[in-house]
Amino acid sequence: MSGLVLGIETSCDETAAALVDEGGHVRSSVVASQADLHARYGGVVPEIASRRHLELVSPVVETALEEAGATLEDVSRVAVTQGPGLVGALLVGLSAAKALAWARGLPLVPVDHLRGHVATLYLEPDPLEPPFTCLLASGGHTMVVAVRDRAGFEVLGSTVDDAAGEAFDKGARLLGLAYPGGAELDRLAREGDPEAFSFPVAKVPGLDFSFSGLKTALLYAVRELGEDGLEAHRADLAAAYQRAIVRALVGRLRAAAEQTRDRTVAVVGGVAANSELRAALSDARFAPLALCTDNAAMIASAGRYARPLVSPGYLALDAYASA
Ligand code: KG4
Ligand code: ZN
Repeated sequence: MSGLVLGIETSCDETAAALVDEGGHVRSSVVASQADLHARYGGVVPEIASRRHLELVSPVVETALEEAGATLEDVSRVAVTQGPGLVGALLVGLSAAKALAWARGLPLVPVDHLRGHVATLYLEPDPLEPPFTCLLASGGHTMVVAVRDRAGFEVLGSTVDDAAGEAFDKGARLLGLAYPGGAELDRLAREGDPEAFSFPVAKVPGLDFSFSGLKTALLYAVRELGEDGLEAHRADLAAAYQRAIVRALVGRLRAAAEQTRDRTVAVVGGVAANSELRAALSDARFAPLALCTDNAAMIASAGRYARPLVSPGYLALDAYASA
């Protein structure tokens, strides 16, 4: 076994490492989530995330190698998330990747986290060939992009305020669910009536998104209901709120595909795990469920299409916070 790409991802609160071969088969994908550490703060605390990454990154890489039945001898390049994300968190993964690559004289591939999400679609067993129009909806970003080749994409529209995942998390919090509440809200919504409340889908020009008005509408609805009313209508609120987000996402993806005239549409990012979104876009290609939220297999996958930097030029490489 040789020619494996080692991927490392530490942009937010998941410490992840994975091994992917040049053909796009995932040999291992290990994700250590810190969600429990941050839950009591209702969001990710950057300092805590960095410190935890530091503790986890070496064991997570070791586990990924073990699960792949591989050693560092089998690794031909190291791919790592350079940004966007929390800079302190990114620097932990980037430093680990530099150290590993440098010690073994391997090339290093800096990967953009968003390109990583799109690159989940290039993995076996069902790799997607561009061109296609893609919705990227995560906790930090929401955009529609035109994908022309596997090396990157062109942004057609993006959120002017909150990301879709952020809207899910903030909505979940208003409904009393624990952080990160997207998946929990998804579950709760299945028991509710989406027609019980009417939440607005923001009218933003072009292909951009906006979710902050929706969040405010939910806040007012929750206040108006009071504690007892909220208890009785929690699932209905979740269902109606989720429906409004899904409608906005589906509408934008369809409009974007009309513009690009692509016949294939795809969805990636944490919100791609949402069951209503998956049902509403039955013709779309979705990232595999296990690879919707942050992982390193997507970073290794993208690392196959980005330009590798040779040793030791990459030692001066810096992380970046925003796209
Ligand atoms: O891609 P990701 O892991 O992190 C970022 O790059 O931001 O996305 C995490 C986001 C969180 O906001 C989480 O609540 C949301 O994805 N999410 C979901 C679901 N599963 C995760 N949102 C809606 N429905 C889900 N089933
Ligand atoms: Zn992500």
